[in-house]
Amino acid sequence: MDISLSMVAKEAHQGLDGLPMPVPHKIAKKHKKAVLFFEVEILDAKTREKLCFLDKVEPQATIAEIKNLFTKTHPQWYPARQSLRLDPKGKSLKDEDVLQKLPVGTTATLFFRDLGAQISWVTVFLTEYAGPLFIYLLFYFRVPFIYGHKYDFTSSRHTVVHLACICHSFHYIKRLLETLFVHRFSHGTMPLRNIFKNCTYYWGFAAWMAYYINHPLYTPPTYGTQQVKLALTIFVICQIGNFSIHMALRDLRPAGSKTRKIPYPTKNPFTWLFLLVSCPNYTYEVGSWIGFAIMTQCVPVALFSLVGFTQMTIWAKGKHRSYLKEFRDYPPLRMPIIPFLL
Ligand SMILES: NC(=O)c1ccc[n+]([C@@H]2O[C@H](COP(=O)([O-])OP(=O)(O)OC[C@H]3O[C@@H](n4cnc5c(N)ncnc54)[C@H](OP(=O)(O)O)[C@@H]3O)[C@@H](O)[C@H]2O)c1
Ligand SMILES: *[C@@H]1O[C@H](CO)[C@@H](O)[C@H](O)[C@H]1NC(C)=O
Ligand SMILES: *[C@@H]1O[C@H](CO)[C@@H](O)[C@H](O)[C@H]1NC(C)=O
Repeated sequence: MDISLSMVAKEAHQGLDGLPMPVPHKIAKKHKKAVLFFEVEILDAKTREKLCFLDKVEPQATIAEIKNLFTKTHPQWYPARQSLRLDPKGKSLKDEDVLQKLPVGTTATLFFRDLGAQISWVTVFLTEYAGPLFIYLLFYFRVPFIYGHKYDFTSSRHTVVHLACICHSFHYIKRLLETLFVHRFSHGTMPLRNIFKNCTYYWGFAAWMAYYINHPLYTPPTYGTQQVKLALTIFVICQIGNFSIHMALRDLRPAGSKTRKIPYPTKNPFTWLFLLVSCPNYTYEVGSWIGFAIMTQCVPVALFSLVGFTQMTIWAKGKHRSYLKEFRDYPPLRMPIIPFLL
């Protein structure tokens, strides 16, 4: 129905046989004016209830602009909460899609879905990462009510416990600073409900690991200094590697843009892992947790590494698949996360 409408609009000054009709100049102009605006109706994707009717929408209007217009009549649904689709069950339109270029007529029907309360990525990452940093330190300083009264504010006699605290804190401080100053997110927000799940995971594991590592009865690694040194080397290399990858990804995306490109190795040797894997940042991340597990020789840390590895493999596979789909000339040697294997 929508398509026929736009055909009529075109035929008005073309004539039915497709030949231009000799219309007087003034009238032709009037017809042109008539198609200068679109009408947009927004229906609820579930109930098909009509939520909003916008007349006189400019053809060049973007979905972002339509979301802004919609918010004016429904302030509870701010733009980041809205998903607009052409088909009630189809994919969400992108903010930068232009009305005129969509397969709609001069009257467009869009279906609305409420994505739920949203929270910005920066806020998400700050809460996710500040938590473990703070929680770990509570155990490190042995604040009261954790290990029993006589240990309050005492400190461990094992060097590795202090080193572990430095590594753990460094890791999360690095993450916090990267979130603030390095990453360029393409999606502005994420659903609020996700944050509860993520925080339970990060905060819970941090508390569990910290409890054992800082425990007064903690026993240092079997192979002593040798083992700690090896672990520290792995940890440091992976942290630098991870940071290098984040800088390389940042440089792929000019400030304020949303473009996505194939990442390639740069002059920095730590980025050469891009020759073999799609998500070297995850490879390094897993590596540094393995380093931390060797250093502390502690079961909860090993478990955290394993869970993290599983999750990151899932993300890396997804990312790898979308790279393959998006770029036809994607380097064939690359695997998602582990060179030649996985
Ligand atoms: N559900 C999933 O499949 C999935 C996958 C990965 C991450 N996550 C979420 O993300 C969180 C951690 O992921 P993360 O630490 O890896 O961070 P991230 O959310 O992936 O963010 C890293 C930043 O680097 C950018 N970037 C990545 N590849 C790029 C490229 N080829 N060109 C230009 N810029 C690029 C990202 O852009 P983009 O925003 O465009 O990616 C993003 O701004 C998790 O807590 C999880 O909730 C979910
Ligand atoms: C890690 O790498 C993947 C693949 O390049 C990317 O999608 C993701 O955003 C990166 N994470 C960060 C925090 O840069
Ligand atoms: C490494 O990268 C991942 C994803 O890009 C990030 O979430 C994590 O904090 C980083 N890990 C380390 C060890 O810095």
